[in-house]
Amino acid sequence: MAVAEYAVIVLLGLVSFLFVRHWKRSKNSPITNWPVVGMVPGLLRNASNVFECTNRVLKHYGGTVEVKGLWFAGMDFIITSDPMNVNHILCKNFVNYEKGSEIREILEPLGDGLINSDSDWWAYQRKMTHSLIKNSKFELFLEKVVRQKAVNGLIPVLDHVSEAEIEVDLQEIFKRFTFDNSCLMVLGFDPTSLSVDFPERTYAKAFDEIEEATLYRHIPPKWCWKLQRWLQLGQEKKLRKAWETFDGFLYHCISSKREELSRCSRTQLEEEGEFDLLTAYIMQAEKGDMGALAWFFWLVATHPSVEMKILEEMTENIAVKDDKKKDNCFGTQQLDKQVYLHAALCEALRLYPVVAFDPRTATGVDTLPSGHRIDQNTKIIIFIYAMGRMEEIWGNDCLQYKPKRWISKQGGIVSVPSYKFSAFGGGPRSCLGKAMAFIQMKIVATAILRNYHVQVVQDHPVSPSVSVVLHMKHGLKVRITKRSV
Ligand code: HEM
Repeated sequence: MAVAEYAVIVLLGLVSFLFVRHWKRSKNSPITNWPVVGMVPGLLRNASNVFECTNRVLKHYGGTVEVKGLWFAGMDFIITSDPMNVNHILCKNFVNYEKGSEIREILEPLGDGLINSDSDWWAYQRKMTHSLIKNSKFELFLEKVVRQKAVNGLIPVLDHVSEAEIEVDLQEIFKRFTFDNSCLMVLGFDPTSLSVDFPERTYAKAFDEIEEATLYRHIPPKWCWKLQRWLQLGQEKKLRKAWETFDGFLYHCISSKREELSRCSRTQLEEEGEFDLLTAYIMQAEKGDMGALAWFFWLVATHPSVEMKILEEMTENIAVKDDKKKDNCFGTQQLDKQVYLHAALCEALRLYPVVAFDPRTATGVDTLPSGHRIDQNTKIIIFIYAMGRMEEIWGNDCLQYKPKRWISKQGGIVSVPSYKFSAFGGGPRSCLGKAMAFIQMKIVATAILRNYHVQVVQDHPVSPSVSVVLHMKHGLKVRITKRSV
């Protein structure tokens, strides 16, 4: 036999060995880890169900998995939901885990704002945002804006929907609520997208498309989406169009605001700074609290005993003189007393965290508490969605919606460390708006639950969309009935 024939046989034997070894290792895993192509075929096949699929993969590998991409493309990364790893990355060795330039590239529509920046620029922006958000005047202003929007926008729309006895997408209502609110907060004007005639909202739709397209950038190798961007194909074409639409809206807003304030002598730098702040705020707000409310209302509507307890707690906390209060909204003191409602919101955020994953990049070599070695520039994704569904953290009933688990024996809210409940991030980069988010969610939740019964339309499918923010793929179709006072 010629040497060449031996070489072919040895090569074939080696390839077969590699296939069998990989197949054995990833046997029973929801995604097979193939030689050469890694997990790419599995990821692409499951792209429409990426949250649940990744949850199952993590469970299979004990909380941390090295996802292999195409071997020549350098697209391997680590996904973890292990609380010890999360604590290490977010807190203990925070300096070693940045957002990183690759993630900044993927999330390029966010610009160089707080959410997307690192090092000194991040520290500076965080300090500035902290002093703005933690200012009591800002807090009061935000609360006032939310209350007014609830009274003048939300209640009239829900009254209309209940009187007309029509089905409505509650998620769409919350999106419109958030959009109007953000514009009111940042620009001081109300686009009134939340009104009974549901006007077309091109800009907000463009925003949803940006979120979806940026998630897709996490899946293929960098060169692939960059090539698509260059050729303007598929998701990248969609992203460019949506981004232009959204930028157009923001530039229009900035120039109207500038005209209004007659500050024509501003430098380019100042304009860019303002643009980033505006983008960052709107992006953050769009992600935030109202997104969580759609999941909350779905869970409450499908768990009548939870709804009953929230209503009982509300009745206990309404003073008789307040009962006929014109604005239908609770005061802050009353909201503070709604412990069960707070627990029900935490429980919804545990199962459906609006920010479902938090990507980081290692700046240096490290070893995670799980034993996984981290090289410089390794991408790590903290999978917040899976953390809320881990038996090791929440017990055997982790998939059930049980607000009670958040209530301590003394009747207060159980304090869960952020490396176990990461819906608001953790460590030095944790959410600056958490307290405010709860106030806003409670204002809206009580305004609705006190006045209306929400019933999910029969057989309406509910599942997460493929997006960086956990929205419902098909919205939340409901019927609204007015409660008798
Ligand atoms: C239910 C509502 C909300 C949730 C679940 C939430 C969640 C989060 C999460 C997970 C992060 C970390 C993200 C990351 O590292 O990339 C974050 C960061 C942040 N959040 Fe929130 N958020 C909410 C509402 C808000 C609100 C209402 C505000 C402002 C008023 C806000 C302001 C911020 C800011 C400024 C950061 C950036 C912190 C940094 O990078 O240093 N959030 N939020």
